[in-house]
Amino acid sequence: MAALSTSLNSRVTNPNSVATQFSRLRRACFKLDNSLSTASTTQYFFQNVDSQLRLSSSRRGSRGVVTMAGSGKFFVGGNWKCNGTKESISKLVSDLNDAKFETDVDVVVAPPFVYIDQVKSSLTNRIEVSAQNCWIGKGGAFTGEISGEQLKDVGCQWVILGHSERRHIIGENDEFIGKKAGYALSQGLGVIACIGELLSEREAGKTFDVCYQHMKAFADAVPSWDNVVIAYEPVWAIGTGKVATPVQAQEVHVAVRDWLKKNVSAEVASKTRIIYGGSVNGSNCTELAKQEDIDGFLVGGASLKGPEFASIVNSVSSKKVAA
Ligand code: PGA
Repeated sequence: MAALSTSLNSRVTNPNSVATQFSRLRRACFKLDNSLSTASTTQYFFQNVDSQLRLSSSRRGSRGVVTMAGSGKFFVGGNWKCNGTKESISKLVSDLNDAKFETDVDVVVAPPFVYIDQVKSSLTNRIEVSAQNCWIGKGGAFTGEISGEQLKDVGCQWVILGHSERRHIIGENDEFIGKKAGYALSQGLGVIACIGELLSEREAGKTFDVCYQHMKAFADAVPSWDNVVIAYEPVWAIGTGKVATPVQAQEVHVAVRDWLKKNVSAEVASKTRIIYGGSVNGSNCTELAKQEDIDGFLVGGASLKGPEFASIVNSVSSKKVAA
């Protein structure tokens, strides 16, 4: 942590300074000492040095905000999952309507399908509404499914796709998720595209490979990234109270941005929001938000409490420390 704040301070006074580069490398070494077995250290070290050097040379402030590597607007989504009743949702909506949000944040909530209409008709327009899933294509004889057209019809602007609970509990695969994303975009919905590794995959040193594979499936299916937000959600951090450290999250976010740069374009890499999800709450959001490649959050449990969700949205302020 000490290395992290040194890095931030040196950037504030002189963004391109040698000191900044050294503190980044020190950060990479710090990570080596603390989190890795010797088996993967060499490969890990070079990956880190490479991404830190790349960051040092390509950094630029966006919108006067020095801690953002991407140029997209901060984005915070609340994924209510399979929670709520008419009554509890009415209370949550009322708390959200009363909350004060910083202006430069896109705020989205994702209620269960059956409450979308209730939420749309009672929630302030300041907050957009997302579904948590949708069918792969046009509606019809698909019992129990909801189509993209129907989501548009009830006023949804977004849909979450590829969430780990759908990948690992329901069994959706990359190709299926990719098709859903392509179709949802064709219907004018924005897509919150989730990626992320299982604990076993992290422990096997496969975090980047898994994230790149998820990214490729989306890339193969989407005609444009304009309305896509990527949510990096390590599965071991979802609903477990075990949040990724800011450094762990940042290193995956920068790798995903790099992947976009190499495989799509530098422009898409810069514009596409990469948000973090997995046990984000009112206490840990500030340190996470300070990471340069974290462009917002996808929040589960803590999004069911209006005031706490509002403080997560407002963690955007920590990006402006030196603006
Ligand atoms: P959590 O869920 O914040 O409860 O960990 C995050 C998510 O699944 O999007």
